[in-house]
Amino acid sequence: MNSNHPIGIFDSGVGGLSVLQRIRADLPHEMLLYVADSGHAPYGDKPADFITQRAAAITRFLLEQGAKAIVVACNTATAAAIANLRRQFSIPIIGIEPAVKPAVAITRSGVIGILATGQTVYSAKFADLIDRHGQQARVLAQPCPGLADCVERGDLNGPHPTTLLNRYLQPLLSQNIDTLVLGCTHYPFLKPLIKRLIGPEITIIDPSAAVSKQLYRRLDELKLLANPNAPGGEHYFTSGCAEYTAQVISRLLDRTVTLEPLPLTSPLH
Ligand code: DGL
Repeated sequence: MNSNHPIGIFDSGVGGLSVLQRIRADLPHEMLLYVADSGHAPYGDKPADFITQRAAAITRFLLEQGAKAIVVACNTATAAAIANLRRQFSIPIIGIEPAVKPAVAITRSGVIGILATGQTVYSAKFADLIDRHGQQARVLAQPCPGLADCVERGDLNGPHPTTLLNRYLQPLLSQNIDTLVLGCTHYPFLKPLIKRLIGPEITIIDPSAAVSKQLYRRLDELKLLANPNAPGGEHYFTSGCAEYTAQVISRLLDRTVTLEPLPLTSPLH
């Protein structure tokens, strides 16, 4: 393994691009390989075993491409699968989890809201996170079925995400949250809409900056940061329809992106 090897990043679909964008900005010399598992999205309503198998299969694929580190750019897959990935693979594996600690540190009302998938909210890892960091505040966790799908379709401000968000935000707003954690990597793409619905007083926290920082730290420790003269770059893969996913990604990133099909068809491969 050497420093010129790429970093592998994956999510159930396009949501993890919110993390990729942050990594791109912080680590411009790195080659990034992104896998959108769009053929199996959303993960949020799939059994944990299925997600664990997908995460292992995608990680294996990224290792075959020479990845020097893996970023699980998905709260749901981190909750379900990161312990297993770390047991199975010996390279650095960075996950993402709802930013409860920073939210508890800044809340003034003492009430924070978290939007996440059902799989994340009902996971043992999330319960442990609340146990460790959520004791100094009231933490209201709201599962959001269907919301990541809107982003998967590139629908960031239409009637459907608006209706869903109104429904999911109402119980949080009625309890006077002053801090809202985006606990799914798809949701930062809905931030303008969320802001419009909650107003300017509530602070929104997106943990991708912390993930990028942790990635930098681990690569630096292992002397695996890319050479500062390297041009950097990105390659995208999907298990869904490459043409359709390319259209959605190009819209989200505001530039033309092409995708290669992921050569994995079954979670058991
Ligand atoms: N983007 C993912 C997350 O961070 C998962 C969304 C989904 O596939 O349900 O949780």
